Amino acid sequence: MKKNILLLCGGGGSEHEVSLVSSKYIEKNLNDIGLYNVIKVEIGKDNIFRKLSSDNVQGEVVEMNFKRQLVGSETEDIHIVVPCIHGPPGETGEIQTFFELIDLPYIGCGPEASINCFNKVTSKLWFNALEIPNTPFEFLASMEDKKRAHDLFDRFGKVFVKAASQGSSIGCYQIFKKDELDDALLKAFKYSSYVLVEKMVDARELEISTYEFEGSIYATIPGEINCPSKFYSYEEKYDPNSKTSTEIVAPNLPKEAVEKMRSHAIKAFTHLKLRHLSRIDFFYTVEGEIFLNEINTFPGMTPISMFPKMMENNGHSFNKFFKEIIAKNIL
Ligand SMILES: Nc1ncnc2c1ncn2[C@@H]1O[C@H](COP(=O)(O)OP(=O)(O)OP(=O)(O)O)[C@@H](O)[C@H]1O
Ligand SMILES: [Mg+2]
Repeated sequence: MKKNILLLCGGGGSEHEVSLVSSKYIEKNLNDIGLYNVIKVEIGKDNIFRKLSSDNVQGEVVEMNFKRQLVGSETEDIHIVVPCIHGPPGETGEIQTFFELIDLPYIGCGPEASINCFNKVTSKLWFNALEIPNTPFEFLASMEDKKRAHDLFDRFGKVFVKAASQGSSIGCYQIFKKDELDDALLKAFKYSSYVLVEKMVDARELEISTYEFEGSIYATIPGEINCPSKFYSYEEKYDPNSKTSTEIVAPNLPKEAVEKMRSHAIKAFTHLKLRHLSRIDFFYTVEGEIFLNEINTFPGMTPISMFPKMMENNGHSFNKFFKEIIAKNIL
């Protein structure tokens, strides 16, 4: 009997639809391995689990029990989970906490690494502790702290305001005028209980695929996001008319800058205890500074996503990588 892989997708976040697209790529790779039975389940925005066909048509409602079984019209044992979810409850570590509780193996980062990376404030505190350069920032626990945001604006003249626990650029505001700052802070607090305010930099946006394969950790050379508006907003990310383009290999980067970024990526992967795969995003400023922006613990796997392409460009087949991590972790 083939073992069962539960491919989970969807979730309660703004990247629900993107995760459904990513799941198709993962499903194809799992089917190409040929050794396993893939059961695809969508977590609805209502947190109800529903089976999905390979064309992403919704089927029956199912429930996961504490005996590692998926229960619907039949009861199926689950041997491993692939939480192909961007944002909650995947990148926030919640679903992994449940898998830990029931001793069910899964692919990707554990709950602690996930939550540390998802929270934009926590992750910057970690980067500072690890001496990984990142943009100067302040964080606010309430509007009572707003003076710190005002002072940061006075220092740099333009800032980014970000809700701490959000993805897809939701709750993220580009602020050029001080009188727009308080309004942005108030809006960001609607999304998260902490708000990050950071220096706005004039920079190229670079991404590195970081992953474990055959006993080593690899950090690829950076790819690039070319976003003409300099704000890779929700619309720029997902609108079919987006003007943003990507390159698997960022052109004309000094070798030392590339090597520095790769070593920061490996350091972050190791010390934040990331597992299997992550995409680590950087800014490379016009002055030649390097700043780690953020870590995505389950990067996009859509046809335009960079993660698998950068891995392939690094000489590693995504399929072989996936085959290895499943084989090593499945019950
Ligand atoms: N300090 C900054 N200076 C200049 N541009 C920034 C800065 N911070 C963010 N940006 C722009 O805003 C975009 C979104 O910010 P960020 O990547 O931090 O959050 P996010 O996209 O919501 O997170 P995720 O990528 O996990 O969905 C970046 O891709 C970049 O274009
Ligand atoms: Mg981002």
